[in-house]
Amino acid sequence: MSISVIILAAGQGTRMKSTTPKVLHEISGKSMLFHAIDAAQALSDDITVILYHQAQRIQEEIEAHYEGITFHLQDASNYPGTGGALRGVKVKHTRALILNGDMPLITPDSLHALTTPEADITMSVIEMPNPTGYGRVVISEGKVHEIVEEKDCIPAQKAIKTVNAGVYCIRRELLERYIPLLSNENTQAEYYLTDIIKMAVAEGYTIHPAIVPEVEFKGVNSRLDLAHAEEMMQRRIKEAWMMAGVSMRLPETIYIDSRATFEGECFIENGVSIQGESRIITSHIKTYSIIEQSHIENSSVGPLGRIRPLSTIKDTHIGNFVEVKKSTLTGVKAGHLAYIGDATIREGTNLGAGVITCNYDGKKKYQTIIGKNVFVGSDTQIVAPVTIEDDVMIAAGTTVNQNLHKGDLAISRAKMRTIKNFFYKFFGEK
Ligand code: UD1
Ligand code: MG
Repeated sequence: MSISVIILAAGQGTRMKSTTPKVLHEISGKSMLFHAIDAAQALSDDITVILYHQAQRIQEEIEAHYEGITFHLQDASNYPGTGGALRGVKVKHTRALILNGDMPLITPDSLHALTTPEADITMSVIEMPNPTGYGRVVISEGKVHEIVEEKDCIPAQKAIKTVNAGVYCIRRELLERYIPLLSNENTQAEYYLTDIIKMAVAEGYTIHPAIVPEVEFKGVNSRLDLAHAEEMMQRRIKEAWMMAGVSMRLPETIYIDSRATFEGECFIENGVSIQGESRIITSHIKTYSIIEQSHIENSSVGPLGRIRPLSTIKDTHIGNFVEVKKSTLTGVKAGHLAYIGDATIREGTNLGAGVITCNYDGKKKYQTIIGKNVFVGSDTQIVAPVTIEDDVMIAAGTTVNQNLHKGDLAISRAKMRTIKNFFYKFFGEK
């Protein structure tokens, strides 16, 4: 890995209209910047992220997830612009790949293509029917001459449809020499990184243009762009999992987090949402179920099941309207209408409809432990903390508020009584 990567992420991103920095907006559960860092890590061990707006917040977020990233704080009040961003940046390797933090769809393959063959400067270009907003690439006799920002274009240049996609691979020595020479004499009074192209041309270097796929290199600037990028990312994630052997019914209705993984044979029905770092192994997730940050193995969930974070579900059947949170269920059946929170439940146990673990007393959360082969009757409330040993039977409608021992029956019910012919007294004869 003899290339360094510099990720530009100092811009404000005003068009997002958000208090969250643009690069921290998420696509498929992961911030745009993290997608860029992941792509960069596939080809480099020296990554520098340039920050300015909300620098501390972004740096903390990166440091919580990655090790060994270098940060560079742009002196944006004195040196605004993409060229100003690179002032004083030192990289380890002899070539640097410069990319933007708001390009979440970029792939390692495309980045690799920009670094080969080795050239003094390679720049990414896109042919665009509507080039509005992009820097135009002035090419004559087959050679790149300069990049002109839209706001600085003369009318003839505005008509150019070959645009700068904003990613470059450049020899370190040229970068270090040209960056201090940039000026801000342009419409925006900014230091443009793009001006290094004409400096290099003036010194006789040839700029190598690399045509790149628009979908990957299109920057995200607004929430509309964000939604479009999400659609692209979802399509990519689901296609890859289907090729790896996951069955999906009506995949366009399914959401899968970029951090989720599948093993064995899995079947995902329509309308399912799989969020966070979920791990699904040989399981069937039925229509409109939601799995968040959980481990599901050799189990079926749904339709309309909800598995909340930090749950482990093994050899288990979860039916409709069952909510599970931070619980470990092994060999359990919970077919209908239940809330299982902060619980550990063992093999052969059956939870009837309407079973609720009362895990919260308004101040703290408490654990419920249920052993093997326990039959929990419908509409049972289990007031935690409570431990129920193996081979226990709990009658329908019971409120369990003490530990139960092996072989026990628990029953708590007001005695039922009947009043003969009350119906007719109340409604009269029909
Ligand atoms: C830039 C290019 C333009 C290209 C376009 C492609 C320049 C001068 N122009 O324009 O030719 O067509 O990208 O998307 O480079 N940033 C900083 N510090 C700054 C300003 C920006 O780090 O002071 C970062 C931003 O966070 C962003 C990237 O640089 O990640 C690009 O900035 P942006 O303002 O989007 O540049 P454009 O005007 O779109
Ligand atoms: Mg831009």
